[in-house]
Amino acid sequence: MLLLRNIQTIFQTETAPLRERVAGADMQVLPSVDDAFLLVENGKILSFGPMTQCPDAPGAQVVDAAGRLLLPTWCDSHTHLVFAASRENEFVDRIHGLTYEQIAQRGGGILNSARRLRDTPEEVLLELAWQRLLEVQRYGTGAIEIKSGYGLSVEGELKMLRVIRALRERTKMPVKATFLGAHALPAEYKTDREGYLRLIEEEMLPRIADEGLADYIDAFCEKNFFSPAETARLIEAGARYGLKAKIHTNQFNCLGGIEVCVERGAVSVDHLEVLTDEEINCLKNSDTLPVLLPSAPFFLNDHYPPARRMLDAGLPLVLASDFNPGSSPSGKMPFVVSLACIKLRMTPEEAVNAATLNGAAAMEISHSHGSIAVGKSANFFLTKPVSSLAFLPYAFGSDVVERVWIAGEEV
Ligand code: NIG
Ligand code: FE
Repeated sequence: MLLLRNIQTIFQTETAPLRERVAGADMQVLPSVDDAFLLVENGKILSFGPMTQCPDAPGAQVVDAAGRLLLPTWCDSHTHLVFAASRENEFVDRIHGLTYEQIAQRGGGILNSARRLRDTPEEVLLELAWQRLLEVQRYGTGAIEIKSGYGLSVEGELKMLRVIRALRERTKMPVKATFLGAHALPAEYKTDREGYLRLIEEEMLPRIADEGLADYIDAFCEKNFFSPAETARLIEAGARYGLKAKIHTNQFNCLGGIEVCVERGAVSVDHLEVLTDEEINCLKNSDTLPVLLPSAPFFLNDHYPPARRMLDAGLPLVLASDFNPGSSPSGKMPFVVSLACIKLRMTPEEAVNAATLNGAAAMEISHSHGSIAVGKSANFFLTKPVSSLAFLPYAFGSDVVERVWIAGEEV
């Protein structure tokens, strides 16, 4: 047993009935308990409440959390954590004036990462990814989704998905795997789009399903990548193998991807730096979650998604890191939360809701993660002594997360 005492405030507390997600104006509310205790047993939250009701827990390990805030760990529902090499050369190219899209068209970008991945052995990829996972864990991440998509061949995609499976076996945090074969058209198929789509449908998907290597299917729905019609076809192909969809769309252009995803019951649509009012309406009448990735437009010096318009329309918002070597070489969720407050004009309460409970919903694990509730997994962090919740996004360069527990164990 583990007993945390004298916690200044526990945030994102829940009592039954538990919510799956929060939307619109409800996102302004972050339930909390001041001067609190939290009791953990067998990796789960046994009870919590005000110190006046703190139980005796003979034999329990006791942590005095005076002056500290306790939050559920971040649920980062969109990452590309498995990659072979960084791409700071392209970062410098962009400083000199090239755009992300121009770099991709010259064979850089995703294809650059695919070449590097092909030449990197599986054990090396695993070790690199494991170090990144340990790093984001120190910043308070306690559940994560990881995509393939730098393989772009049968063997390459399987290699990435096996690395994700190995990560899942090494950690107690939930790890969701997403198959992103349609991340870019590989060079060998430059003149044969149909051939690559059929490779995904006829060779990749059956083998991935056979080995149980993925939970979701993704595609990059964007000009010069995959069209809405191709995305629709891929979502339907994934569905035949039991994979629900989480789709990259509306990063640079509004092409109709949102409608295609909503019509096919996608779990989430991710990026949304550009979004029309019609698309907001379309999302409003659906269960598809909008996932915002503000560190991508930050890093690409591009414009940010219209978060306030979406909240005003009553949508639930999710925040994730998009950790990848091309558009967001950081998986630091506290910085994502800061960006949400500074650039998306979300309040600290809205941003924390988006990065915890709603992040869990975007991985379909909000029954067990994303809040401090009796019976949920004991995934939480303590901050350093701080004055208030708003200090977290305000002190954007400080590492405020001090101690992290996953499934009841300090990491
Ligand atoms: O989410 N936009 C597509 N995929 C990634 C970037 C991948 C890369 O540049 O390597 C993203 O931004
Ligand atoms: Fe991404």
